[in-house]
Amino acid sequence: LTRERYPVRRLPFAQVSEDDLAALERIVPGRVITDPEELEAPNVDWLRTVRGSSKVLLRPRTSQEVAHILRYCHERNLAVSPQGGNTGMVGGSVPVFDEIILSTTLMNQVMSFHDVSGVLVCQAGCILEELGRYVEERGFLMPLDLGAKGSCHIGGNVATNAGGLRFLRYGSLRGTVLGLEVVLADGTILNCLTSLRKDNTGYDLKQLFIGSEGTLGVITAVSILCPPKPSAVNVAFLGCPGFAEVLQTFSTCRQKLGEILSAFEFMDAECMKLVELHLRLASPVRESPFYVLIETSGSGAGHDAEKLSDFLEQVLGSGLVTDGTLATDQRRIKMLWSLRERITEALSRDGYVYKYDLSLPVERLYDLVSDLRARLGPRAKHVVGYGHLGDGNLHLNVTAEAFDVSLLGALEPYVYEWTARQRGSVSAEHGLGFKKRDVLCYSKPPEALQLMQQLKALLDPKGILNPYKTLPARA
Ligand code: FAD
Ligand code: MLT
Ligand code: ZN
Repeated sequence: LTRERYPVRRLPFAQVSEDDLAALERIVPGRVITDPEELEAPNVDWLRTVRGSSKVLLRPRTSQEVAHILRYCHERNLAVSPQGGNTGMVGGSVPVFDEIILSTTLMNQVMSFHDVSGVLVCQAGCILEELGRYVEERGFLMPLDLGAKGSCHIGGNVATNAGGLRFLRYGSLRGTVLGLEVVLADGTILNCLTSLRKDNTGYDLKQLFIGSEGTLGVITAVSILCPPKPSAVNVAFLGCPGFAEVLQTFSTCRQKLGEILSAFEFMDAECMKLVELHLRLASPVRESPFYVLIETSGSGAGHDAEKLSDFLEQVLGSGLVTDGTLATDQRRIKMLWSLRERITEALSRDGYVYKYDLSLPVERLYDLVSDLRARLGPRAKHVVGYGHLGDGNLHLNVTAEAFDVSLLGALEPYVYEWTARQRGSVSAEHGLGFKKRDVLCYSKPPEALQLMQQLKALLDPKGILNPYKTLPARA
C-alpha cells in the first residue's frame, strides 16, 4: 500500500533481532507484542491509506521505561515510531517500514489536578474523552475537543498540536499546555513538567515538541490548563443560502454574541448528504447550500439566551439564515454536534479520501471547493468543504471509489499552489506526518526548513525517531 503510492526507501537502521527482543522484554516484561494479528491494526492508519510492516510493538507504563527503550534503540540504531490513539490524518502514527511501534496506551494515569488553578497533569496516553469526564466532574473543561476524542491520546494531541472544535474559544495548545515531560532520542528524560502560567526562564523548550509529531522526542506527560466548565451551553444549527451569507452570519455572530461565542463551524450540502447517507443521521433543518453550527458557552443561562435570540432574530430577519434550530439540553446538543463531528467518518465510508486541511483567508475559504468541483467533474465522487470557519480552517475532501493516480495528479500540486498563492497554510491542524512532508515548502521558506533539519539533527542525530515523517527527504 505505502510504497506503491509514496516512493520512499528504507534508511539503513538495524533490524530487530532475537537478542533485541530479549533485551526489550527485560525492559517491559510481558509488554513486547509480536503477534502478527495484534500488529495488524497499529500498522495501518485511521484513513487506511498507509500501512507499515512493523513486527514489534512496545507498551511501556512509565517514563523510565520509555527512557530505557529509547536508550537501547539509540545504541542499537533501531528506528521507533511513537503511537497514541492512531487517529492521525497524515500517516504519521504508523511505521513506514519495520520501525518499532512505541505505544502510549498503558501510560494512562492522571498525576494531579488542582481545583483552584484548573491545572491537570497526566501521562501522555490518557484518552482525551476520559480526561474530559475527569475534569468535568471537578467543574472544569478540557481546552480542546475533537471528533476523535474517544480514542486519541493527550500526548498525540500535543504531538500534533491538534486544533479542533474549541480552538476559537480557548486557543492553541501552544498556550494551554504549561509543561511537558519528554524523552529524547538517546533516552534522556527532559522534565519541563511545570504548572506555571508564567515562566520566562530561557527558551521555551516545550514549544519544540508541541506539533513535532514524534520526530524530536517522545512526550510522556503533559501539564495543561483547563478552563472552568461553563454553566450555560447553547448550540444553534442553521441553514444559509450561500457562502457570502455564512461569512456575514459569522460577522454578526461576533458582534452580537461576543464573549460567549465558543464555536463557529460550517459544512456544505454535500457533507450533509454524506452523513445522511452513510450514518443515517437526519438533518434538523430544511435543505440548504450551507449549514453552520454555533455554540455559546457562558455563565448565565438567561443572559446567553437573550443574546442568542437577539442574534437569531437579526440573521433570520435579514435572510442570512433561512432555517434553524436551537438546543440547550445535553442530549440534543450532542446530536447537533454529531452532524459536524462525524463528517470524517461519513467520508471514509464513501470511498478513498483525498484529505486537505488548509488555512486560508476566510473570504476565499470556499472558492477552492467550487473551483475543484468544476476542475474534477465526474472524476470525483464527492468534493466537500467543511471546517473550523471561525479559525480560517477549511477541510477540503475529495472522495473516489478507489485511489487513482490521475485524480491525485489533478489535485496536487494544484491545491498546494492555490493555497500558497493566498499565503495560506498547507496544514492548518493535522500536521505533515508521512503523507504531507514534501509540501512543507509551500508554507515555509527554505531558511526555516534548514533550521528544522538542524534542530532534528541536534536532538536526534541518528534519526531514529519517526523517520520519513514531517521533514522532507533530504535532496
Ligand atoms: P496518533 O495518531 O497516534 O499520532 C499522531 C502523531 O503524533 C504521530 O506522528 C505520532 O508519531 C505522534 N505521537 C503520538 N503520541 C506521541 C507521543 N506521546 N510523543 C510523541 N509523539 C507522539 N485533528 C485536529 O487537529 N482537529 C480536529 O478537529 C480533528 N478531528 C478529528 C476527527 C476524527 C474523527 C479523526 C479520526 C481525527 C481527527 N483529528 C483532528 C486528527 C487526530 O485526531 C489528531 O491529530 C490527534 O491529535 C492525534 O492523536 P492520537 O493520539 O491519535 O495520535
Ligand atoms: C475535523 O475537523 O472534522 C477534523 O479535523 C477531521 C477532518 O478533517 O476530517
Ligand atoms: Zn478539523
